[in-house]
Amino acid sequence: MNIEKEKILEALRPIMMPSTSMDIVDAGGIRDIMIEDNAIHVEAVIFSPAMNMRRKTENQIIYLIEKLYPQARITVRVGSEKPSDDKIAPVETSISHVKHIIAIASGKGGVGKSTLSANLAIALSRKGYRVGLVDADIYGPSMPIMFNVEDAMPLAVREGDKDMMAPIEAYGVKLQSIGFFAKAGQAMAWRGAMATKALQQMIFETVWGELDFLLIDMPPGTGDIHLTLTGALPLTGSIIITTPQNVALNDAQRGIELFRNDNINVPVIGIVENMSYFTPAELPENKYYIFGKHGGKNLAEDYGIPFLGEIPLVQSIREASDAGQPIALADDSPLSRAFADVADSIVLYAEKSIQ
Ligand SMILES: Nc1ncnc2c1ncn2[C@@H]1O[C@H](COP(=O)(O)OP(=O)(O)OP(=O)(O)O)[C@@H](O)[C@H]1O
Ligand SMILES: [Mg+2]
Repeated sequence: MNIEKEKILEALRPIMMPSTSMDIVDAGGIRDIMIEDNAIHVEAVIFSPAMNMRRKTENQIIYLIEKLYPQARITVRVGSEKPSDDKIAPVETSISHVKHIIAIASGKGGVGKSTLSANLAIALSRKGYRVGLVDADIYGPSMPIMFNVEDAMPLAVREGDKDMMAPIEAYGVKLQSIGFFAKAGQAMAWRGAMATKALQQMIFETVWGELDFLLIDMPPGTGDIHLTLTGALPLTGSIIITTPQNVALNDAQRGIELFRNDNINVPVIGIVENMSYFTPAELPENKYYIFGKHGGKNLAEDYGIPFLGEIPLVQSIREASDAGQPIALADDSPLSRAFADVADSIVLYAEKSIQ
């Protein structure tokens, strides 16, 4: 086996250095990588004395190297240190004045993460909260279309000695998406490390200002992006969205376990069930449980996680999103109310978590 130090360093970039906005490699946290036959030993330091942070970093390093060299014998030691250089001392970052950061995730793709993220952001904003939304789906951004700002381009702004970007504002929500920087439909064929770097920039080089909620629309799956985000951001919690059928529920289960995993340790605020039943426009009283009934609710019960509500499968939800006017903008519609109800549950959770 040909183990290369450079490859290991690149693989470790999804790990953020606590209390900085840098990854652990740039922040100088990887002190030594020793390679002998198929044994790899990493010496690292982090700027946090907390035992659980050190263990979490250790687990993350092992996890990322294992993905690269599954056959290797890996040992890691993480010490703690006070940052010496001024630049990497705990500094004010773009998210210092954000009260709650919440990830919207699922295991399976296409179950409605982006739909929920956009509608929740709008619902929260309509309730008077200051809201931001990061489209973390680097490979398939959807927010520019959903917010009807496809041609918008974030402006460069100078903040102190840093070059930053102003988010795009639409429907009272501050948005950032890789879609603003790439033409529609252009594939983002990025390697893992570049993708995580781009995402880190989108979050830490955007002027968010004071926000009550910053929602993160996660990409599908449970990959590096998830590790980066959960490592880099002090998340208040995550919301898992699923459809009621078994395949989606299995994936949702993996999503829950990812957040509850020792490396990550982010509370799951609750489960939202999407496409719970189909209601045709001409028969608004009828409910057809085409994907099965109460799958999401049962999953929530099994895991002892709050169930935050169900969203029906309705053509107008998709049409509204595609037209750049998410349904949560509608006044007095049962569908916008469904999203507003989920927003209420989140506000309640967030208020409790502050105490
Ligand atoms: N409740 C719903 N009723 C009707 N259409 C819906 C509903 N929820 C989502 N859709 C539609 O289903 C498609 C997938 O939804 P969405 O893009 O929100 O899923 P996603 O989980 O973000 O997908 P991906 O994993 O690709 O990011 C979209 O066309 C969306 O408009
Ligand atoms: Mg999406």
